[in-house]
Amino acid sequence: MDWLTGQLTGSALETRLTRVRDLESIFADRAAWQAMDMDRIVYRVEYWRPVPDNTSGGLFWGATFIQPGRVGDEYFMSKCHFHRRRDCSEFYAVIQGEGFLLLMDDRRRTTAQPMRPGSVHYIPGYTAHRVVNTGTVPVAFVACWSSEAGHDYAAILENGFSARLVDRGGRPVLIPAGR
Ligand SMILES: [Fe+2]
Repeated sequence: MDWLTGQLTGSALETRLTRVRDLESIFADRAAWQAMDMDRIVYRVEYWRPVPDNTSGGLFWGATFIQPGRVGDEYFMSKCHFHRRRDCSEFYAVIQGEGFLLLMDDRRRTTAQPMRPGSVHYIPGYTAHRVVNTGTVPVAFVACWSSEAGHDYAAILENGFSARLVDRGGRPVLIPAGR
């Protein structure tokens, strides 16, 4: 790993690209989403799974790069998820860029932690999480999580995240979802 950029290299590396088209119903302003270039990349995840998914006691390592951008007044962000195994936690550590880590507990209470180069974030179990890029350059962060954690995106798509981070006069503001 290049610790200045977060870039990973190696034959075991896997890459997943998420484009505008993959984020239907994620952003509140559907008309603004439809008007965008569907091929535009919103974020890229590179990860290393030294053991197969669901291996007991294993760990995975990855780096995520979220581009700067907006859909309406909402910033580019990652899809949020609970871990399929709810009690599994995760570490994030920021390499570059500025943004927020949004956390929602199992009672739908949302908090936002500022992310900046060098900040380290512990995401406890039973907590949905997503990263929002509020800056003008890509947010790059590394993550370490359990090989048993898995991802559950469906639970969030049903009820949505309880809050949104939107631009208000050039400043990020956390507002209740549905407004
Ligand atoms: Fe996660």
